Amino acid sequence: MSATTPANEPVLSVDGLVVEYGGRAAFRAVDGVSFDIGPGEVLALVGESGCGKSSTARAVIGMEKPRAGTALYRGRPVQPLGLRTRPKELTAIQMVFQDPNSSLNPRIRVAQQIAAGSRAARARGSDTEAPSHWLRAVGLSPALENRYPYQLSGGQRQRVAIARALAARPDLIVADEPISALDASAQASVAAMMRELCVASGAAMLFISHDLSVVRLMADRVAVMYRGRIVESGSTPLVWGHPVHPYTEALLAAIPHPDGAGVLPAAPALEAPASWTSDVPGALDRVR
Ligand SMILES: Nc1ncnc2c1ncn2[C@@H]1O[C@H](COP(=O)(O)OP(=O)(O)OP(=O)(O)O)[C@@H](O)[C@H]1O
Ligand SMILES: [Mg+2]
Repeated sequence: MSATTPANEPVLSVDGLVVEYGGRAAFRAVDGVSFDIGPGEVLALVGESGCGKSSTARAVIGMEKPRAGTALYRGRPVQPLGLRTRPKELTAIQMVFQDPNSSLNPRIRVAQQIAAGSRAARARGSDTEAPSHWLRAVGLSPALENRYPYQLSGGQRQRVAIARALAARPDLIVADEPISALDASAQASVAAMMRELCVASGAAMLFISHDLSVVRLMADRVAVMYRGRIVESGSTPLVWGHPVHPYTEALLAAIPHPDGAGVLPAAPALEAPASWTSDVPGALDRVR
């Protein structure tokens, strides 16, 4: 945490973010998204495929230039620079990408990839651990240190990407489906470990996931995205217990139960009633 920043200020503050793709007939993938994440807090961003979660994440870390709106990291804009040309302090922002193949360098061994994260931490004056520690932290054997990414399974690659991000001792983690390639038993433990590290170090995490059962366990707050907008947000127990937007209700109803009795939402349930607006009390709870 920066010595000059009051502890109660958000680590990440996103305001009116708009991301569009294409030229003149631009398609608006993110349509005015706003949220804050405080120190040691996990905000989950959930929603159907294509609703704009990854686009939001990329704009937050400066990989996508927003059409409008701002993403402030500790009060400063995250410039749309390549990740390698960023100022040293911005290595405190770490992203775990949806596809680990796009973030791991195929020609560099696992230990060196994780060591790159450690170097970033040390350059900012943060303590970090050896690659073997971070491999163990994500449930991998240190024996994998000398492998290249192509010599790993998809789930192992995803864990290495998480290990590298954590080795950098981030102050803000933007994790886009970080556990989707892991088997069910590993998903909960890796997610819990990510949460623990965040809480312990006072880092903030934007956690994008399709897996609502994991979200329920690890997120302090949930923001539900639908067609480019956040249609509902609030503390995780509140959203679970009292979903306000029809899409949230449908999403929660679709979670498979342990007895296999998952209920698929009926299509009409996805339509918001004409009376619904984002001003419904409790529907959009912009904390802080
Ligand atoms: N680079 C791009 N150029 C054009 N359209 C894009 C681009 N990236 C994403 N899109 C479109 O923007 C919309 C939002 O995509 P995005 O990847 O943000 O969705 P998502 O919520 O992350 O979905 P998923 O859960 O499947 O990962 C989609 O319709 C997608 O096709
Ligand atoms: Mg995505």
